[in-house]
Amino acid sequence: MNFELKPLTLVGLANEKCDVLVLLVQQDFKPGKDELSLLVAQTVKAGDLGAKPGQLVPLYRASQANAPRLLLAGVGEGKAKQVRAAVSAALGSVKASLGKKVVLAFASPAQEDAVRAAVLAAADATYSYTHTKSKPEPRTLQKCLVVASNAAEVSASFDRAVGTVLGIELAKEWANRPANFATPTLLGQAAQALAKLPKVSCEILGPKEVAKLGMGSFMAVAQGSDEPLRFIVLRYDGAAKTKAPTVLVGKGITFDSGGISIKPAPEMDEMKFDMCGAASVLGVFRALAQLKPAINVVGLIPSCENLINGRAVKPGDVVTSMSGQTIEILNTDAEGRLVLCDALSYAERFKPTAVVDIATLTGACVVALGGVRSGLFATDDALGDALLAAGERSADLAWRLPLDEDYADGLKTNFADVANVAGRAGGAITAAKFLQRFTSKYPWAHLDIAGTAWKSGAAKGATGRPVGLLVEYLMAQVGTK
Ligand code: BES
Ligand code: MN
Ligand code: ZN
Repeated sequence: MNFELKPLTLVGLANEKCDVLVLLVQQDFKPGKDELSLLVAQTVKAGDLGAKPGQLVPLYRASQANAPRLLLAGVGEGKAKQVRAAVSAALGSVKASLGKKVVLAFASPAQEDAVRAAVLAAADATYSYTHTKSKPEPRTLQKCLVVASNAAEVSASFDRAVGTVLGIELAKEWANRPANFATPTLLGQAAQALAKLPKVSCEILGPKEVAKLGMGSFMAVAQGSDEPLRFIVLRYDGAAKTKAPTVLVGKGITFDSGGISIKPAPEMDEMKFDMCGAASVLGVFRALAQLKPAINVVGLIPSCENLINGRAVKPGDVVTSMSGQTIEILNTDAEGRLVLCDALSYAERFKPTAVVDIATLTGACVVALGGVRSGLFATDDALGDALLAAGERSADLAWRLPLDEDYADGLKTNFADVANVAGRAGGAITAAKFLQRFTSKYPWAHLDIAGTAWKSGAAKGATGRPVGLLVEYLMAQVGTK
């Protein structure tokens, strides 16, 4: 879908030809003397577009607009959250008859974050998964025109939103694909495809190279599957080679059965989403290629299946990680930290300014924070603050959780340097404490996206989070807000 931003007043808007016109009306709307203004003013006066955002007044073939469907949508004070709700409700209500061109128009001057919200909500409301359908129903919408009288003021925010949408949609697409259509090999090919874009390059390591690096922990997870592992190294070089990069590490378990510590059957299918961290890294690179900020970013994706065969790793097995630390694998279902720890050691070679890993790491994080906020851990307060703030600005929220040393007590074992699980209590934190052991060389943050990366139930599907948060965090490094 193609997004465009145009400066128009309501007079010009009335002539704009399209299939659906969504007019976002603020409570304090100030009408001009044109017909469309008067229509809106009357609707507000009648109390049908009151203080409650999300209220819709659908009109068919109204003489005041050059569109068969005109939707007046109340947005209260015009805040990002209200605009997002209004756009979702409006486009949701005409989903079957969206046609090819939609106009989203702000009736009052638009705020920057409201423009971003409108673009993201429009993309989300019209996304369609098709990859494994015999009769695909792809998105019909080809063009989404965003109209604001103050377009010039909000164009930077608009451009960033469009780049972010490209990233979110790529992340959703790969996350939604079933595990037999999104193997480690196929993820590697997706990364290689990204390397065709400007400033992006990619290197893929297989089992031999990974063995040579001494990634015994990662290999232990992969050995229970016939699918060969992949270690994906992506680079975005937007600045001088001498500028230290940010490294993003995405958990890429393309299916998590739990291994010998097998998971119960209900909802096990959702463990195809256990590569959402990896998908978000791919998405961020797609957005970077579009937005071209003057920074350097490295993306690392350790990818394999967590399955069960005659060679599968067993509870009690001890393995040696790339860092040299030995790990007793007490539970083969705590595999995410086992693949991530070796990637975190690999990250040292880039002498990064910061390393951020993104992982569907623990069910405990879902219990703690649900689907609203991702869990955020950081060894460096500036980094933690920056990520938290980026989450607020992009409405891709996170919440900080602690890293007190006492939480690591349960990881002690008699048979190795560290065990891969502690007790049930504080499970999201003990997982983070495990990872922290491998991050002493740089400022580090960890995003546990187990609750936010996908939705269950009737609306089952990937959300594309936390691409919005990460793009915002990276773009803030070049001073643009
Ligand atoms: N991928 C799961 C975490 C997960 C579970 C994400 C449910 C979303 C929903 C992870 O590999 C896992 O299995 N973690 C275990 C850790 C436990 C064995 C310490 C968990 O959370 O149960
Ligand atoms: Mn697991
Ligand atoms: Zn997992």
